[in-house]
Amino acid sequence: SAAEKGGYDYFMLKEIAEQPKAVADTLLGRIDVSGALTLDEVRIPVAELREVDKVVIVACGTAFHAGLIAKYAIEHWTRIPCEVELASEFRYRDPILGARSLVIAISQSGETMDTLMALRHAREQGSKVLAICNTNGSTIPRESDAVLYTHAGPEVAVASTKAFLTQLVACYLVALYLGQVRGTQWGDEIRAVVRDLARISGEVERVLETMEPVRELARSLAGKDTVLFLGRHVGYPVALEGALKLKELAYMHAEGFAAGELKHGPIALIEEDLPVVVVVPSPRGRSVLHDKIVSNIQEIRARGARTIVIAEEGDEEVVPYADHLVRIPVTPTLLQPLVATVPLQVFACELATARGNEVDQPRNLAKSVTVE
Ligand code: AGP
Repeated sequence: SAAEKGGYDYFMLKEIAEQPKAVADTLLGRIDVSGALTLDEVRIPVAELREVDKVVIVACGTAFHAGLIAKYAIEHWTRIPCEVELASEFRYRDPILGARSLVIAISQSGETMDTLMALRHAREQGSKVLAICNTNGSTIPRESDAVLYTHAGPEVAVASTKAFLTQLVACYLVALYLGQVRGTQWGDEIRAVVRDLARISGEVERVLETMEPVRELARSLAGKDTVLFLGRHVGYPVALEGALKLKELAYMHAEGFAAGELKHGPIALIEEDLPVVVVVPSPRGRSVLHDKIVSNIQEIRARGARTIVIAEEGDEEVVPYADHLVRIPVTPTLLQPLVATVPLQVFACELATARGNEVDQPRNLAKSVTVE
């Protein structure tokens, strides 16, 4: 009913709008006044967490994309090797697991059969499993050794939005917590990131306030067949997520690529007026990446692409090559997906509407996939 949708036309719009609160709620009570992580609810003894020699993340779909981003954070802040694998592929390849492997199963519903089977396999090998889940008491947390709940609230739309942002927050918390219990050379950076996390919900809110041009752009592209998405570093999984949203909602051919792979094949797809969304890393810090993506944008534009550039406020270098420029707030590199994904969700939702598709219940899809 309209009341359930809180005045929005679709649950998806409501859930997109709820993201600042979902992010804040997922952080609530998990960082103390001194900036230390307080994840006592993760009932894996600290002594065991100190012994972990490998992290393996298993998940499907959007939750898998959250896992891909988590890998950058976990490896950077903890120096523990981290693998991310599609849950449906995991147990069939006889993965190398042991008592010192920490397996993280990410699932909004907690009922995804592929993810459940992967975690059962991991436990059979003697590994500890930590669930990151949005649904209290669902099967995946019940069968795991520990759980960190995302506090997104119920997600009704088939296309995942607020669950994704809160999965990211939960992954950052786990990465920071592992860094904290094991000691890390990144103490100062971690303290700064914790401060930035406290502000991030307000930044997501600011992005939401500036989405009208993105909706307009989406409507103007309703007749297109294909949209490509490019990113580097954590922007690469963001590109994959943008493409998945567009497939699900707009039924368009959409693909996400690592921008560095362009010249290894995908650049052959570029033709006159093809819309290409580029997620640009911050020009600060890891500026090598920024320079490289700027030259990628130049390359595709020279071949006729219509460039839709998602870039930080103050990034002037991209301006000459952007047919459409979407500004996102300045954030630390690893946290950028929290703000960069939002315009892609809005874009896909508006395109679906413009194409006359059912936003909350896309064809052929179920909210939770309880068969393998
Ligand atoms: C996302 O928009 C999808 N509907 C889908 O990929 C989803 O993320 C996937 O099925 C995993 O679901 P889960 O998080 O409930 O396990």
